[in-house]
Amino acid sequence: KKILFVSSEVHPLIKTGGLADVAGSLPIALAELGQEVRIIIPKYQALKLEEEITYLCTLRINNRDVNILETRLPDSDVIVWLVDCPEYFDIPGNPYSDEFGNAWANSAARFCLFCRVAVEVSQNRAHLDWKADIVHCNDWQSGLVPALLTLEPQRPSTVFTIHNMAYQGLFSKTAYFDLNLPGQLWNPGALEFHSLLSFIKGGIACADHITTVSPNYALEIQTAEYGYGLEGLLHNRHHELNGIINGIDTDIWNPETDPRIAQNYAIDSLPKKAGNKLALQKHCSLPEEPTIPLIGLISRLVDQKGIDLVIDCLGDLVSYPVQFVLLGSGEKGFEHRLKNLSYLYPDKISVSIGYNEDLAHLIEAGSDMFLMPSRFEPCGLNQLYSQRYGTLPIVRRTGGLADTVVDAMPDTIADKTATGFMFVEPSVGAMLETIKRAILLYANKRIWQQLQKNAMRKDFSWQKSAQQYLDLYNTL
Ligand code: ADP
Ligand code: GLC
Repeated sequence: KKILFVSSEVHPLIKTGGLADVAGSLPIALAELGQEVRIIIPKYQALKLEEEITYLCTLRINNRDVNILETRLPDSDVIVWLVDCPEYFDIPGNPYSDEFGNAWANSAARFCLFCRVAVEVSQNRAHLDWKADIVHCNDWQSGLVPALLTLEPQRPSTVFTIHNMAYQGLFSKTAYFDLNLPGQLWNPGALEFHSLLSFIKGGIACADHITTVSPNYALEIQTAEYGYGLEGLLHNRHHELNGIINGIDTDIWNPETDPRIAQNYAIDSLPKKAGNKLALQKHCSLPEEPTIPLIGLISRLVDQKGIDLVIDCLGDLVSYPVQFVLLGSGEKGFEHRLKNLSYLYPDKISVSIGYNEDLAHLIEAGSDMFLMPSRFEPCGLNQLYSQRYGTLPIVRRTGGLADTVVDAMPDTIADKTATGFMFVEPSVGAMLETIKRAILLYANKRIWQQLQKNAMRKDFSWQKSAQQYLDLYNTL
C-alpha cells in the first residue's frame, strides 16, 4: 500500500518528544513489511538534514507558493517530503514555539497550511505521480487532513493516531474563517468544539479509524478524567478506536552497540553496565560510588510528567542512600526549582536543563532505576528504553506505563515477569514508598539481576505493532 505518514516531527530531523521517535521508526518498520511509505513534515529551519535534498514541485496553497522538497530518513530508503514555506517555517525555534519558548502566534495558520499540502499530495494533485491509499495522521497538527478529505469524492482512507490528548490545537472561530476553511466543516460533527476550532477533533470525528499509542490509554480517553471533553465522541466511536503500543528503534537504543555510552553491554555481560554508571557520575560531578542506587529521569518538564511530585519528594529522597540525575527542559518554574534543589544537594542531585541526546543515552545506560511518575502517559518511551538497558523503571500505573511495565511483586518476581516498580496514587507518599521498595530490592543483587534480565529480554521492537497497523490499513 501507499501510505502518507503526516507528522509535525520526525527523529532525527527534528524532535521535541516521543512523537518524533515514532515517526522516525514506524515508517521504516512499515517499509520493511513491504509498504510504500512517504513521510511529510514542514521544512523547519531547525531541521537536521543529512541526506541529499531535491526540489520536486511548487503548489499554490491559499495564496502562497509552497515548495515540496524530497530527502530521506538517514540510513534508510524511506522518503521524506518537506513542505517548504519560508514565511512560516524558515524561522528559528522548534515546531511549536520560538527560540525564546513562546508558542507561535500563528500556529493555526502554519499547521493549516501543512494539512492542506498533505491533502494535495495525498490526492496526487502535486503531480508527484503518487496517490496515497492510506493517510496516517498524527496528533492535532495533522487533524485537519481527515476533515478536509471528507469533502473529496474520491479519497484515500484515513487513520488518526492520538499521541497526546492534552494538546488539541484549539483556536477561535475568527481564526477558522480567517483560514478560509470550508464552511461545511464548521459544525460539531467536524471541526467545531464549543464554538472553537479544534484541530484534534478533525482527526477524531472525521478519520476512518482512530488509534492511540497504548491499549490502556484508548480506554482512559473515553472517560472524563482523560478525555478533555472529547470522551463522549471517543466513546461513540469506540468500534473504530483501538490502542497499538509503540515500538522502539532497537538499533538506536541498543546497549550492545550504542556509540553514545561509555561501555557497551548485553544481558550476559551485565557487570559492564557499571562502567556507564561511573561515567555518568563523573559527567554529573556526583561522588563516584558504584553501589549507591542511582535514579535517572529524562523528560519534558511539564505537568503531564508529574514533575511537581518529583520536586516535592526530592527533599525527603536525599535522606536515603541514593543519587538522582535529571535531564529535561520545559516550564521555567520547574527548571528553576529543580536547579535550586541541585545546588542544595550537590552530592545527591544533578540537574541538566536542556535537550541532549548523548546524555539521554548515558542516563539510560548508567542509571539503576528510571523514574516516570506521569499523571497521564499515552505510551511513554523512556520506560521501554530503560528496560532494554536493564535500568528498572519506577512508574505510575497509567496509560502505556501500565501496559509495558510489570510491577515487582512476590508472584511476578517468582515467575520472572517483573521488570520494574509501580504506584497508583499520584502522591509524594506513594512515590516515595515505591522508591523505597526499589532501593530495598536493589540491595539483593541476585533478585535485582534477575529483574534486569527479565526487562532486557522483552521485545519492544516495532515488528508486532507495525503488523497491527498494517492489518488495520487492510481493513479500511
Ligand atoms: P513525550 O513524547 O510525552 O515527551 P515519551 O516518553 O514518549 O514522552 O518520549 C520522550 C522522548 O524524548 C524520549 O525519546 C526521551 O528520551 C526524549 N527526551 C525528552 N526530553 C529530553 C531531553 N531533555 N534531552 C534528550 N532527550 C529528551
Ligand atoms: C506523546 C505521549 C507519549 C508517547 C509519545 C509517542 O508525546 O506523551 O506518552 O510515548 O507521544 O507516541
